[in-house]
Amino acid sequence: METFTVLALFLVRKHPMHKLCILLLALVFIGEGCNSNDQSANASFGKLSKDAHSFANFNEARTTHLNLDLTVDFAQKVLQGKATWDIEKTAKAKKLILDIGDLSIHEITLDSGITAQYTLGSADSIKGKALTISLKPTTTRVTIHYSTSPQAKALQWLAPEQTLGKVHPFLFSQSQAILARTWVPCQDAPGVKFTYEATVKTDSNLLALMSAENDTALSPNGIYHFKMDQPISSYLLALTVGDLKFASTGRNSGIYAEPAMLDRAVWELASMQSMIDSAEALYGPYAWGRYDVVILPPSFPFGGMENPRLTFATPTIIAGDRSLVALIAHELAHSWSGNLVTNETWNDFWLNEGFTVYFEQRIMEKIFGTSYVQMLTKLGMGDLEQTIESLLSEGKENDTHLFLNLDNQDPDDGLTDVAYEKGRFFLQTIESVVGRPRFDTFLKKYFTENKFKPMNTERFIAYLNENLLTDVQERADVKATEWIYGPGIPDNAPEVNSAELDRVELAIAKFNNNRIKAKDIGITGYTTHHWLYFLRGLKNLNVTKMAELDAAFNFTASGNSEIACDWFKHCIDVSYKPAYPAIETFLIRVGRRKFLTPLYERLAKNKEDKLWAQKVFEKAKPGYHSVSYNTINNIVY
Ligand code: BES
Ligand code: ZN
Repeated sequence: METFTVLALFLVRKHPMHKLCILLLALVFIGEGCNSNDQSANASFGKLSKDAHSFANFNEARTTHLNLDLTVDFAQKVLQGKATWDIEKTAKAKKLILDIGDLSIHEITLDSGITAQYTLGSADSIKGKALTISLKPTTTRVTIHYSTSPQAKALQWLAPEQTLGKVHPFLFSQSQAILARTWVPCQDAPGVKFTYEATVKTDSNLLALMSAENDTALSPNGIYHFKMDQPISSYLLALTVGDLKFASTGRNSGIYAEPAMLDRAVWELASMQSMIDSAEALYGPYAWGRYDVVILPPSFPFGGMENPRLTFATPTIIAGDRSLVALIAHELAHSWSGNLVTNETWNDFWLNEGFTVYFEQRIMEKIFGTSYVQMLTKLGMGDLEQTIESLLSEGKENDTHLFLNLDNQDPDDGLTDVAYEKGRFFLQTIESVVGRPRFDTFLKKYFTENKFKPMNTERFIAYLNENLLTDVQERADVKATEWIYGPGIPDNAPEVNSAELDRVELAIAKFNNNRIKAKDIGITGYTTHHWLYFLRGLKNLNVTKMAELDAAFNFTASGNSEIACDWFKHCIDVSYKPAYPAIETFLIRVGRRKFLTPLYERLAKNKEDKLWAQKVFEKAKPGYHSVSYNTINNIVY
């Protein structure tokens, strides 16, 4: 369009009435600016790519700071209060569009209190609704008075019986990917970053925590103030309230947990401070001040969530042997990959997770050594191969690309292991081409130069080519386009070797071929990761062999959630009934979707098991967060 205008200007100079023509064209030009999607040209914020999962007009009017004031009502299962947004906008912007999901809007005011006009769009089953607020030319601040619905998808309200202590209720949020809008009206697109402060009122015997500066002790009047001075994306907004106590684990780290869990958690996560120190030594200073972890009740639907300053974690990592702490290294690594340099849309999710798995492994290597990380890597490759195989068999080849197209899809369904593991193996491939020292220098620079900014796949490739792969041969060797826009695992993926797991491989081969009895397998030195590899490699099982394995290794009674889950998969595959009571207990106690999904999927394969799964689900579902509830509901019915 601009080219057209310039060309026209050049031509009309020859025309006898050229001055009038120029004036008319100038008016057309201004009009063009008005109709264009890109109104950010005269604004102080950079233009963001279109986000298929948000209604927000962030290229016209952008939220920059949030002041949240909420009261927690456990009796009604409602958060009530107001959200005040500072905004920046283009001169022409007449409206602010926010995303909301199931919120009741009571009133909206502008600046110092004049009532604003607003409209609610029609509900979309994935995105929720657009809340469109009319602005005055001078508007810099918008206040939304609202309350959440008891069914708000981000929030889980737990009755006292669903906690460890059984005395106090509990609340936690899970905003990623697009659930923040169900508890805060916001521009719910990861490219939009804002600072925030909050006041939360709750029962005076409960501690409230957010992804912000937190108190470590109870406030006598139940009022808590929070501050987050670094800009974050909406998916990192987080709140939890419960009977929580704090214990320090080092210079700038600590753990919050229910009192009965705290000592065990502190023991299990003793490596936290050295993880922070190792991460800083790799890729530069930790940008967020403190790094704390809160151990939530077992219904938390994920393993961990990297809420800034305060990782939310499942209690299933408190295994009693420190074997599942890589999850903390992962969430900590997000403090750089994700929380500092953020995927611009959910199509770029691999920029968050692939980088984080790579970084996580580097932290683990520093603390636990190469042999340990080789086991994690080999297990990761196994997961990836399996995920890709099943996606391809379902005809979902595009879902095996790193760069996704999630248009018209709930990101909650489209985000798979591919972003994590294929992403990590892509980065390992780059490392193997350029060598570790150069790759580390590059990554440190990448995090430093792009901190507090969104990043998309296209800009990352340009950045990579400009700052690392300037050599034509190296660029060809990396095959970035194939990795990012192509299916499966490219043939230049690094080899994965683990002497420890090779040892297990030999044992599995013998057992699978009935050449050895379970009790005679030499298991000296087996750790959780040896067992996971062992369980994943078992073939030709039947009820007799399952009983033999159980008698030798007591898998059904395992207190390690990862081991139990892998064992239960086999139990269901061969209908090993002695384990079913334990499976039922597990499905009712644990709400972590990664464990629930494969178990319910297997149960749904035959009629008898499916009926049983429905019964278990009916008992378990009051304890599931919406994220797990929705996934499992679709599997069993
Ligand atoms: N950010 C993710 C969790 C997430 C991803 C929530 C997408 C919602 C949508 C978190 O960092 C994560 O990846 N957690 C993993 C553990 C990790 C060790 C792979 C999990 O929850 O299992
Ligand atoms: Zn992650």
